[in-house]
Amino acid sequence: MFVPFFCFIKEHAIERQQDLLYYYGGNHEIDLYQSDVRVLPEEWTGQFDAILEKGLLDAVYLSGGNNAEQAAQSLVRTLRPGGVFISVSGVVPEDQRKELFKDMEWVRDGSKDLKAGCFIFRKPLQDSVKTSSPSCSH
Ligand SMILES: C[S@@+](CC[C@H](N)C(=O)[O-])C[C@H]1O[C@@H](n2cnc3c(N)ncnc32)[C@H](O)[C@@H]1O
Repeated sequence: MFVPFFCFIKEHAIERQQDLLYYYGGNHEIDLYQSDVRVLPEEWTGQFDAILEKGLLDAVYLSGGNNAEQAAQSLVRTLRPGGVFISVSGVVPEDQRKELFKDMEWVRDGSKDLKAGCFIFRKPLQDSVKTSSPSCSH
């Protein structure tokens, strides 16, 4: 399974993450990369089985402009078909979250969770166009 770790500008976050991996038993099979989530490398397209973010989407949304749209497109692009995007996020308005991930299957809707919700989306196996609001199961 290939799961990315994202951070922005702060390369030292990679070093800190490496320290933590060694501290918790030293998993040498995890590769760490630093990238701006809005412009993930083209060669990562369709590569990831799962993406987990916590607070990243919120930070990008709060930074304004169309950064959240760019980030969502970039994240979905790098998932393989059937791949899962797990998002622990609290500040993106519900209607915008639905728009950002309208082409994803909503596996879990965390909008009723306390503070930050845990949302889980699956990339459809085949391209499909949604015509209605996402349906969610808990
Ligand atoms: C609220 S913090 C969450 C950090 C970490 N996931 C945690 O739970 O402690 C948001 C993170 O998003 C990063 N970030 C902001 N904009 C970004 C971007 N465009 N691309 C990648 N990371 C970004 C920030 O550098 C920061 O580390």
